Amino acid sequence: MSVLDTIKEPVKEELKEFERTFQHSLKSNIPLLNIVINFIIRRKGKQIRPILVFLSAKLTGNILPSTYIAASLIEIMHTASLIHDDVVDDSYERRNYFSVNALWKSKMAVLIGDYLLAQGLLISITNSEYDILRIVSDAVREMSEGELQQMQESRKLAITEEKYFEIIRKKTATLISSCAASGAKSVQAPDPVVQQMAKFGEYIGIAFQIKDDLLDYQVDNLSGKPSGNDIKEKKITLPLIFALQNANGLERRKILSLVNKKNSNSETLHEVIAFIHSKGGFDYSIQKMNEYREKSLAILDSFPDSPSKNSLREFAYFTTNRKH
Ligand code: IPE
Ligand code: IPE
Ligand code: MG
Ligand code: MG
Repeated sequence: MSVLDTIKEPVKEELKEFERTFQHSLKSNIPLLNIVINFIIRRKGKQIRPILVFLSAKLTGNILPSTYIAASLIEIMHTASLIHDDVVDDSYERRNYFSVNALWKSKMAVLIGDYLLAQGLLISITNSEYDILRIVSDAVREMSEGELQQMQESRKLAITEEKYFEIIRKKTATLISSCAASGAKSVQAPDPVVQQMAKFGEYIGIAFQIKDDLLDYQVDNLSGKPSGNDIKEKKITLPLIFALQNANGLERRKILSLVNKKNSNSETLHEVIAFIHSKGGFDYSIQKMNEYREKSLAILDSFPDSPSKNSLREFAYFTTNRKH
């Protein structure tokens, strides 16, 4: 059994049921749309967000129909954001296969993303899930802001550590936070508990993105996404930010000109990696990532012991140990 399977154990049946709701909510009457939708359904990801929704719901109450809506809405928004993200990042691989923009061009990817967004709104409205829609809409707005800020920073090539943390909190952590929060909200947990779970998810989300950025440097990573894509897109993430902070002017100019080169190749990547190693940028990022994991675990400590609490604990470790 994989680590993720063990984590899912307390909500295994609910996740099976979720899978049916999720797939059903995506279907359309337009044949071309369905071809792409079926492709998306077949190449599903780790589904960590629905897992988090259900575990958070079970930790704080009894799972209700609202919990399924929250999980579907968030996974739909996440899927749409990845399809758009691959257009923005010019990335042709996703989930160990071609991305939507690689197979059908960006036009289709943009439109499919919009379609998913609309479907997400509709299932919330149809079921009158306004509280959950609010939590998730706030997150989606922050996600878009974060992506825009990231684009701005990559143009300047001069991102600070503070900006980096602001961006990853917005583009990744708020949606993961909304999983834990809406899970609790869906079972009518009191507001302070919803807030606590939101914080828990935010810390996990920050650790999750630092890990994603570390995996991007790993040439043999199993993420199913191209490695070195961030450097190619001039996206300067924590390991390199730290290394640049600790370099002299000459070193900094040399590395930045490498990153700024039109056609970066694997040689560029290796040189940047060697530089980061020499400055301790990977160790520093791992240390930061683990600090956020510990902060999330501290929040869990205030809940009584249960199988869902154990799973959420394992979930925090999975976030920082994963290879995909
Ligand atoms: C990828 O998220 C996007 C980031 C926030 C880093 P996941 O790693 O959860 O993607 P899938 O759904 O498993 O493919
Ligand atoms: C996260 O950033 C993307 C979103 C929050 C949509 P990345 O650009 O690093 O995500 P991947 O690595 O392409 O999955
Ligand atoms: Mg990307
Ligand atoms: Mg990435």
